[in-house]
Amino acid sequence: MSERYTLDRYVEDLRQITQKTDNEDEIISRVGPLAQRLASEKNWLQPKHYETDAAQGFGAYLLHEEPDHTLAVFAVNWLPGRGTPPHDHGTWAVVAGVEGIERNIRYRRLDDRSRPGYAELEVKHDINADAGELICIKTGGIHLVRNETDRVTLSLHTYGKHVNYNDRSQFDLETKEKKDFIVRVE
Ligand SMILES: [Fe+2]
Repeated sequence: MSERYTLDRYVEDLRQITQKTDNEDEIISRVGPLAQRLASEKNWLQPKHYETDAAQGFGAYLLHEEPDHTLAVFAVNWLPGRGTPPHDHGTWAVVAGVEGIERNIRYRRLDDRSRPGYAELEVKHDINADAGELICIKTGGIHLVRNETDRVTLSLHTYGKHVNYNDRSQFDLETKEKKDFIVRVE
């Protein structure tokens, strides 16, 4: 039987990968399979990671970050019928499905970014990500996540830097407003 993959080993691998390169495509392509492996092992998963946050619609639990907030790993659960507004992350993101199907809509930005607090978006693609599947987003990529199933879903999220310490935004599709996006993290 092969050796079990753990959160500690994953963090060590994240450090090695990001020490060797700044290239996001390379980071994402190397981190992705490791995130999938950790997501399938589930030895890091605790009952509290299923505790939902009805106000926010999703419960976010920090599993790791470096002292400078880089290499942030979260378990995130999603309530049925809930999700996020369109948002970016201010860093690269690798999300591996752990349990249930999460709808993921990616957007492209149409405006010239000259108006502060304003953004026009259009849908680029719209997919359902199942357990074991990956969603990878480079810095500046915009998406939303929604749980359209009737059960709580859970995914493993890894970011170049903890999202609450980045310059990142949420987007209102109707008003075209762009504003700060801070999430509540346990
Ligand atoms: Fe996201």
